[in-house]
Amino acid sequence: MIESVKLMVPGPTQLPPEVIDEMAQPMIYHRGKEFVDITLNAIDLLKKLFNTKRCDVLLIPSSGRGAMEAALVNLFSHGDKLLSVSNGYFGEVFSKMAKAYGLDVASIEFNWEDVVDYSTIEESLKNDGNIKAILFTHCETSNAVENDLRAIGSLAKKYNKLLIVDAVSSFGCMPINVDEYGIDVAVTASQKGLMCPAGMSVAAISPKAWDAIENAKLPKYYFDFRNMRDYIQKGQTPVSTPVSIVRALNASLKLMNKEGFDRVFERHEKLAEYIREEAKKSGYVLYPDNQNVKRANSLSAFLLPPEIKAEILVSHIHSKYNTLFAKGLGDTASRILRIGHMGWFREEESIHALKVLKAAKNDFGF
Ligand SMILES: Cc1ncc(COP(=O)(O)O)c(C=O)c1O
Repeated sequence: MIESVKLMVPGPTQLPPEVIDEMAQPMIYHRGKEFVDITLNAIDLLKKLFNTKRCDVLLIPSSGRGAMEAALVNLFSHGDKLLSVSNGYFGEVFSKMAKAYGLDVASIEFNWEDVVDYSTIEESLKNDGNIKAILFTHCETSNAVENDLRAIGSLAKKYNKLLIVDAVSSFGCMPINVDEYGIDVAVTASQKGLMCPAGMSVAAISPKAWDAIENAKLPKYYFDFRNMRDYIQKGQTPVSTPVSIVRALNASLKLMNKEGFDRVFERHEKLAEYIREEAKKSGYVLYPDNQNVKRANSLSAFLLPPEIKAEILVSHIHSKYNTLFAKGLGDTASRILRIGHMGWFREEESIHALKVLKAAKNDFGF
């Protein structure tokens, strides 16, 4: 076997041995009893992790963007007005996606380095009664910031708006109380906190969202949530299911459940704080360079000196230390270094990541 690179990007993550073993099992039929039981077990554990009793949870064979797109085509009709809140790359993606479907998107774009201002959001909701829904990113993977689900949830409730949350890089790393916060659709994907390969996305759908779905007119076929709901009740998806990924998902959820979901979140928080504190001691500057942002538990971002290009640093670290970190996204691509510490990431990985960070800094003399 080729010695594998230490994968420390913000998804995909390293896979636990139990997940790798599960994917190496012989193929089974996606409509057979054995697989149906695996799927239903995974759905039960996903509901627990979403903290929901009122939502249906669907498995959607696609990457995370598939579930985001599915949420749009299932809930809305051409011309519906949405409020898209963004403070980074993925918030902007959600907004562009909605525009591509002919939705009327009012965007509030915060600076990537600033704290999201919920009073500005409230002003828009107060002044524009036509807004039907809010698009919101929980962990913005481009700037490593966690946005406040409780705050946006209470605004959505106060103004009676549908709330659609991109939880792709937060799910499994930070708590998401879908019922308590009043989230109507929360989407995530297999390759981050869920410690699986990419290829399966997941959506939790509230009763209020199902009401909207009944009246929505955007065209859909593959992504039709109603069809998916009929099938998932039988432990199936309408299409040929990526069996190995669902097996992997069930194995990873079982591991997380055994550790205890709260313990999993605590581990993420502890390691995230440790990495940031130690990196700061070695002279790294956190991105955003703003004390007031809430940093996510899933990844950390560091602002590089202007003379150091992130792509060059990343490729040096890859070839010299067999470790993969990520550069930034969009306008920050060359300016920041991102380290994913989500999923199958323990103390030994954090020690390794810090050793490499220090050594690379030394190599480049900054
Ligand atoms: C916050 C967020 N949203 C959406 C996506 C898109 O997910 P995918 O690449 O699985 O389509 C990502 C992936 O990095 C993400 O981090």
